[in-house]
Amino acid sequence: MPLRVRLTLWYGTALALILVVFGGALYAVLTHGLRDQIDRSLEGAAAVAVRAVEKHGIGPFLPFEDLAAEFPELAVLDKTFQIFSPAGKITIQSPNLGHQDIPLSPTALASALNGQATFESARFQDGSTFRLLSVPIRENGVLVNIVQVGTSLQPIEEMLHRLVLVLLVSAPIALAAALGGGCFLADRALRPVEAIIQAAQRIAAGDLTQRLAVPSTLDEIGRLAATFNDMIARLEASFRQMRQFSADASHELRTPLTVIKGEAELALRRPRPAEDYRLVLESTLEEIDRMTRIVDELLFLSRTDLGEVAIESLPVRLDALVEDVRRQMAVLGQEHGVQVTVGSVDPAPVLGDELRLRELLLNLVDNAVKYSRPGGKVEIALVRESATARLSVTDQGIGIAPEELGRIFDRFYRTDAARAHAKKGTGLGLSICKWIAEAHHGRIEVQSTVGQGSRFTVVLPLTT
Ligand SMILES: Nc1ncnc2c1ncn2[C@@H]1O[C@H](COP(=O)(O)OP(=O)(O)O)[C@@H](O)[C@H]1O
Ligand SMILES: [Mg+2]
Repeated sequence: MPLRVRLTLWYGTALALILVVFGGALYAVLTHGLRDQIDRSLEGAAAVAVRAVEKHGIGPFLPFEDLAAEFPELAVLDKTFQIFSPAGKITIQSPNLGHQDIPLSPTALASALNGQATFESARFQDGSTFRLLSVPIRENGVLVNIVQVGTSLQPIEEMLHRLVLVLLVSAPIALAAALGGGCFLADRALRPVEAIIQAAQRIAAGDLTQRLAVPSTLDEIGRLAATFNDMIARLEASFRQMRQFSADASHELRTPLTVIKGEAELALRRPRPAEDYRLVLESTLEEIDRMTRIVDELLFLSRTDLGEVAIESLPVRLDALVEDVRRQMAVLGQEHGVQVTVGSVDPAPVLGDELRLRELLLNLVDNAVKYSRPGGKVEIALVRESATARLSVTDQGIGIAPEELGRIFDRFYRTDAARAHAKKGTGLGLSICKWIAEAHHGRIEVQSTVGQGSRFTVVLPLTT
């Protein structure tokens, strides 16, 4: 069942209940109030009548006209009067009864004998209903007369009847109008949801470029649409990254294979001296090394993606680590004619995995040396700054253009300048560095000027 229908049904049921309760309460209160009012007016009339009868003494056959002349209140048209003898016989009757006797009921007679007044309702053959009040008049403790005042209940019954009619007619109309309005409102309120559903279906069908129109009001629907768009944008980005990644990976692996194939075919074209075969095999080995490195690094990165790479959390002295790899770095520099020096080194204890941190530093130095020009300098420095250790590797190499700075940590990303400068490289090293830094709750910062050099800084929290 659609939400719109369900909402409308709930709403309608609640409204119907309210209408029924309201109508019932209105009817009950009104009935009670009107009865009460009638009883009170009967009491007033009875008091006047009793006074009139008492004033005249107890002449049993006093005509009503005499009483009425002296007490004009008695001549009220909507009240009837009867005076009964203690035996229950009518002695005086008001003219508006028109010779229709209302007999005194046995209960009224019995309580009159006990000196008590009685309220009763009576229905006659012609269907008319009356409200009656019988009041005893006693003299010296003896019942001498019973005064009965009455009034027709017909007006209030008619009024209540009309009320019921109005309620019965108007409640369904109000309910229908409210249901119609509710359905319309629910429909309007849910229309954006319908739009979201359709967009979601198009997106599910594979079109990740679809976005929802976000309403300008940031209500629940607006926030839902915005969140949804956000999610799709991220999905799209990660899908694009995935596609890019597989394209890059195949390309990077294809290049060495093409080289190997080409050289092998060339070597086999005609018989050659053993020295030539040796050269080809050496080159092949080199390419295989390169592929092995790519595959190893890829494997490592996919294991980090799966959360399978454990990082130790042991005390590591970064300053000791820098001293430790100083020689290794110097050798690395010498191969490329680059001078690697170590600048100021502050004591910097951190928590982490020494092997990974060493790999991180060597990766950065490897890049710095690789992207330096012969005769360039690379400087390593380690300083403390507030609660962090800042390990920096500064070179005077080719530098990185500002628009490329954001991408160098992407897998397989190598700038064109880097490709032209150094053939060797996988574009995976910085991705690994970034992962290691972040696994140590740190980060890597880069500053670079094209043609002048770069500085990579690893910022790690110090142990306290
Ligand atoms: N010190 C540096 N100087 C200039 N460019 C750098 C430096 N370090 C990294 N880069 C750029 O970042 C890219 C990614 O680095 P990395 O992931 O280590 O890949 P690789 O070393 O295999 O080229 C490099 O290809 C290069 O374009
Ligand atoms: Mg590298």
